[in-house]
Amino acid sequence: MSRPGDIQTPPAVELHDLTVAYHKKPVLWDIDLAIPEGEMVGIIGPNGAGKSTLIKAVLGLVPAATGWVRVFGESYASRRREVGYVPQRESVDWDFPVSALDVVLMGTYGRLGWCRRPGAAERKQALGALERVGMQDFARRQISQLSGGQQQRVFLARALAQNARLYLMDEPFAGVDAATETAIVNVLRDLKQQGRTLLVVHHDLQTVEGYFDRVVLVNLRLVAAGPTREVFTRDNLLATYGGRLTILDQAAETVRRFEDWLPQTGAEPPHSAARAAAPQRLLSPPGAPPPAQPQHGAAPQAARRPPGENHALP
Ligand SMILES: Nc1ncnc2c1ncn2[C@@H]1O[C@H](COP(=O)(O)OP(=O)(O)OP(=O)(O)O)[C@@H](O)[C@H]1O
Ligand SMILES: [Mg+2]
Repeated sequence: MSRPGDIQTPPAVELHDLTVAYHKKPVLWDIDLAIPEGEMVGIIGPNGAGKSTLIKAVLGLVPAATGWVRVFGESYASRRREVGYVPQRESVDWDFPVSALDVVLMGTYGRLGWCRRPGAAERKQALGALERVGMQDFARRQISQLSGGQQQRVFLARALAQNARLYLMDEPFAGVDAATETAIVNVLRDLKQQGRTLLVVHHDLQTVEGYFDRVVLVNLRLVAAGPTREVFTRDNLLATYGGRLTILDQAAETVRRFEDWLPQTGAEPPHSAARAAAPQRLLSPPGAPPPAQPQHGAAPQAARRPPGENHALP
């Protein structure tokens, strides 16, 4: 309850009654949502659920048919310099002839305004951001000549150079290996430690609990939103993925089988490793021994397919 004199901090992002339509066909319906400042929040849902659209609506890249969006209590336009965006990989033109450093320097434009060109201070900042994501040696490389994971790191560096208060990231872990994912997660955790808010579209259900304080489950409508331990439940996931949760069911079954298997081997039961390795076991023949190392990157991400074709996991 607030008392007179209390200063209310507005949510980092607030959506009220938001409906977004493409060609008059709504793809997000009646979304009411408030994201508190300083948290790392996952947006979870199947392909075509409207996750990217939700982020684009916050950024004003797609218009609201009804409802409104606020960023730190104001319109996005008045807060845009405080917002960093990492777009979904597929939506970027990677053939555009710019170097990694150029891309990161773009992150500093917002503060410079249109008239000033980036100078030595901005270059230093951009190189520092590239270093932070382990890409300093690729500064002069054309982005078309980088691997997918390296391109992803460059876009993260651009967001870092922006020094934003709110980051919107659309699948920053898509198509990256385990080492790159760990590197990116560590950067995101640092940003959170500094009080930044991160709104991250994420597909890998196995890592949600480890990464996010809060989740937003969406499939055209908002299914649920709140602290991960309260909201990331089997029932909510079933509702989000249209009642078909084959991969989760298989993962649970694999963990159970693996734990049954351990006593017969006399092995020390490495519980956390067993759980982390479980998804990988889905790829192994029944009865095969578990992998020596948890294969983090092999977790069963929802299969990619053209948006809108299907709203359920395979
Ligand atoms: N520019 C557009 N014009 C028309 N329809 C679009 C456009 N962009 C997206 N859509 C449609 O809107 C719906 C939501 O798309 P969106 O890209 O937000 O989904 P998503 O949850 O991000 O999916 P994915 O996990 O595949 O990235 C889909 O049915 C998609 O086909
Ligand atoms: Mg998307």
